Amino acid sequence: MLTDRHKAEIDDILSRYPVRRSALLPLLHLAQKEEGYVSDAAMKEIAAILRLTPPQVYETVTFYTMLSLKPVGTFHLQVCKSLMCALAGSDNLLGWLQARLGIKPGETTPDRLFTLSAVECLAACGTGPMMQVNEDYYERLTEEKVDRILADLKRDGTSPLKSGPFMWPEPASNKS
Ligand code: FES
Repeated sequence: MLTDRHKAEIDDILSRYPVRRSALLPLLHLAQKEEGYVSDAAMKEIAAILRLTPPQVYETVTFYTMLSLKPVGTFHLQVCKSLMCALAGSDNLLGWLQARLGIKPGETTPDRLFTLSAVECLAACGTGPMMQVNEDYYERLTEEKVDRILADLKRDGTSPLKSGPFMWPEPASNKS
């Protein structure tokens, strides 16, 4: 049970929100970090904690592509297929990855190293085609770069070609 293993963290998350249900995304993130995906049991448990129904939790999980309903590989490759990346060649990139890995979007390689997904805009529209691998962004991708990234990930578990994790911009200062 999530509550048994992470009681202090869950209490801390709940204390940050005046409205209990607002803690839904952080709790789902915690569940995914724990198991690598959001299991049925975790969804039921989170629903009980937040006094929501399991379908309310389920519909949130299915809305966000960073949350997964089934186990993913060590590296979750999420290729943006939205307009700006499509214009920059994301279809070719996805095809290249499918050929290299021998899997289609939604599938995981037999060694459970890579899961491939095609996702909607990841807010890096000016630097497409791009993909997210776990928490990291890789931008202005080419077939050569993708080959190098796959080799780096297999060998080192990371690649120097990453741009870094996605960060929301800092709010503008009110000071003049
Ligand atoms: S269209 Fe690909 S990141 Fe926005």
